[in-house]
Amino acid sequence: MSPRWTGKCPNCNEWNTFVEEAPTPAKIARKSGGVASKIEPVALNDVNGSEDVRSKTGIAEFDRVLGGGLVAGSVVLLGGDPGIGKSTLMMQVALKLRDKVLLYVTGEESLKQIKLRAERLGTQSNSVLLLPETNLEIIADVIERGDPDIVVVDSIQTMFRPDLESAPGSVGQVREATALLTRIAKSKSIPLILIGHVTKEGILAGPRVIEHMVDTVLQFEGERHYSYRILRATKNRFGSTNEIGIFEMHDDGMHEVKNPSEVFLSERTYGASGATIVATLEGTRPILIEVQALVSSTSYGLPQRTATGFDLRRLQMLLAVLEKRVGLNLGTHDVFVNVAGGIRIDEPAADLGIASSIVSSLRDVPVDSQAVAIGEIGLGGEIRTIVHSEKRVQEAAKLGFKKIVVPKNNLKNLKNANGISIVGVETIAQAIKELVG
Ligand code: TYD
Ligand code: MG
Repeated sequence: MSPRWTGKCPNCNEWNTFVEEAPTPAKIARKSGGVASKIEPVALNDVNGSEDVRSKTGIAEFDRVLGGGLVAGSVVLLGGDPGIGKSTLMMQVALKLRDKVLLYVTGEESLKQIKLRAERLGTQSNSVLLLPETNLEIIADVIERGDPDIVVVDSIQTMFRPDLESAPGSVGQVREATALLTRIAKSKSIPLILIGHVTKEGILAGPRVIEHMVDTVLQFEGERHYSYRILRATKNRFGSTNEIGIFEMHDDGMHEVKNPSEVFLSERTYGASGATIVATLEGTRPILIEVQALVSSTSYGLPQRTATGFDLRRLQMLLAVLEKRVGLNLGTHDVFVNVAGGIRIDEPAADLGIASSIVSSLRDVPVDSQAVAIGEIGLGGEIRTIVHSEKRVQEAAKLGFKKIVVPKNNLKNLKNANGISIVGVETIAQAIKELVG
């Protein structure tokens, strides 16, 4: 603690670690005394717990991630890399909500820029109000007087409280701005959406510090050079954090992707070596995706290992297992792994698909194009049980695949074949034989 601005912490010698705190009224209240004795706890049974009032936005992928719509009085933080499409998505929500007055507070773009975006999106609405403002005193006043049904703040990093001296975007400002806006949302019982720029590594520290203050944290992700965008809830007091929404960025805004497997498989390569279809689970939805590998001999120096959309350390582990248990010699080869479509796979069920793509590329023999592979690979080369095998098998059957290679232990849960042949395998060697031959 320091009573004045301090650049360098005298304790840890780090720069800019001091955060400004406004004197809170609580400190004054505590002195006055007497108030506390009048407050009684409330019996749990007496609390009115009737259904939350939710308003659907009409964008189904967005509503599903929220847990069924926006809850009155809740605060949602929408984070994501700059340029990923946060403002676009929120403007689409604004235009979709015709019977609700939505106040769009913008601290980043001019009215003209917003108008241009709305025109690009191609819909009209006369219930969207724009407020180009960053001073929170003014914003609070406008919300008080205007009584909007929903408020969007774009972005929280540009907002500031004039009674604090620190710059907008600093940790202290972002935290105080969120606290103030949250109080307004709760007292007026309106949903509030805060947009925040966060890089994947969370480098712009702002929004991270307010994650605990808001009810729902949504992360908007995607590779900049791909058009797919994934919306996930990393925290949700009003729903599950399992659901994801998938969008595709077009010239006229985000389009909802209702059948992700078909979309991701539309560009698949037939007959080429080094590609396997895996059934991955995003939230509760199974999605079929192509995982690709390219194995080529190292021309000089150390062999390279590169993974896009997959954990590099896990890839290194898989390579070690392939060397030891299948007898492949990868020490003189570069290995590149890529998950098609700019998707990121975080679950071990994709291991088998990655391994079979690597073997296929090394031997230059294509993987059975009618087959899907799922299974976690253990250090002993064993194929381990995965979760929700039934959903994955059904998705593969639905899309017309003829064969699915699964961990043997999963077979007992798989009664419904739906016209697909299910092959249970115990070891990586067995699985490779089924997939690559
Ligand atoms: P934007 O919503 O401004 O991103 P954020 O608010 O997350 O920073 O969108 C950024 C990019 O999206 C921009 O480079 C242009 C592109 N875009 C489209 O491709 N289609 C569209 O319809 C719109 C409005 C934007
Ligand atoms: Mg923006």
